Amino acid sequence: MPHPAASALSDFIEKTHAVWARESDMKTRMEQTQILLTGLVNHPAIQDSAKNWPSTEGHKNLLLHTDEKYGFIINAVVREPNRKGSVHDHSQAWVLYGLVEGSESLERYERLDDGSRPDYAEVKLTGVTIGQPGTVDIVPPFNIHAEQGGPGRSVAMIFRSEKLVGRILQHGYDLTTGKVTERYGPTQIDYSLA
Ligand SMILES: [Fe+2]
Repeated sequence: MPHPAASALSDFIEKTHAVWARESDMKTRMEQTQILLTGLVNHPAIQDSAKNWPSTEGHKNLLLHTDEKYGFIINAVVREPNRKGSVHDHSQAWVLYGLVEGSESLERYERLDDGSRPDYAEVKLTGVTIGQPGTVDIVPPFNIHAEQGGPGRSVAMIFRSEKLVGRILQHGYDLTTGKVTERYGPTQIDYSLA
């Protein structure tokens, strides 16, 4: 018998395959996957399993699934209380960010300069939403954002439309100096729910 959390994840992947087979537009695929991910992060077996997932402090992600068919990636992140998140984008990828446990502030930023300098950006905070278990945020390509930890441990599942790590550079934004840095994203730690 597979572990209930592993079954919930395979069920999610199967339903996601059906969506991706039916839809070719990436925005539509991600909007429909958002509904499925909401079901997954609310699933009692996932909520239960997440209590034991290890901390990913030190710029790490748990790697739960690499999709052979469509290339999407499913990660998890486990933050210590009051974790300060950096301001960043995910380059060309679409990302779903679904909270399983705890609360986090999901910050959105807007770029004010004309983007003509690759190493400099003026960015302004435009909105904050408080995510609770079951909240799934959708982050479009090149959207500038940050996830800030809450008062307790927090756990999120991340669905990325494509593999970025080691392949495509993403950007970090320093709010004080305006400096833009290129980076390859978190270290991937293989983790099985089975
Ligand atoms: Fe992010």
